[in-house]
Amino acid sequence: MTDNKGGIYIKEIDFIKEIEDICFREEAWSLEALRSSLQREDIVYGLVHDEAGTPTGYFIAAVSFEEAELYRIAVIPEKRGMGYGKKLMDRFLKSCPQKTERVFLEVRESNVPAVRLYESFGFKVMGRRKKYYGNEDALNYTLILNNNG
Ligand SMILES: CC(C)(COP(=O)(O)OP(=O)(O)OC[C@H]1O[C@@H](n2cnc3c(N)ncnc32)[C@H](O)[C@@H]1OP(=O)(O)O)[C@@H](O)C(=O)NCCC(=O)NCCS
Repeated sequence: MTDNKGGIYIKEIDFIKEIEDICFREEAWSLEALRSSLQREDIVYGLVHDEAGTPTGYFIAAVSFEEAELYRIAVIPEKRGMGYGKKLMDRFLKSCPQKTERVFLEVRESNVPAVRLYESFGFKVMGRRKKYYGNEDALNYTLILNNNG
């Protein structure tokens, strides 16, 4: 059963937290941080499930005015390479309002699966933060949306 408290589905947070811990380990957001983010009005998020109905991944993003920023996209390791990441990205982009013109995200340079996923959706590198992740640079990606047609 799913409880709905303050507009947030408790079970969904639990699933997100579980996947978050598996995928991001020591960089995982705390339950409190997740809860307060998901309650923000500018936040959009979504879960994807496998054919058995088990949650396998999620995205979390902020959308405000003409801009959106993707904070998290993750799929549990045993379900990777099966199209769930693409499905999540697709859902995120479709959830952006018509007025959204630009989508931003940041990623570790060495995160090849994520980089390929982003580039396959047309994201382009617009900047780099030197040594943002300790010894590693962060790449700043931007996608320009054409919602005029
Ligand atoms: C990035 C991530 C979400 C991709 O999810 P996924 O379900 O495996 O992705 P998909 O199966 O939909 O693949 C989509 C595209 O990503 C790329 N990709 C996925 N896995 C890849 C891999 N191991 N190596 C290279 N490219 C890969 C490919 O371009 C692929 O498209 P293709 O199959 O047409 O070649 C997943 O690897 C993940 O959860 N990583 C850990 C969390 C993370 O680092 N998130 C990003 C930072 S928030």
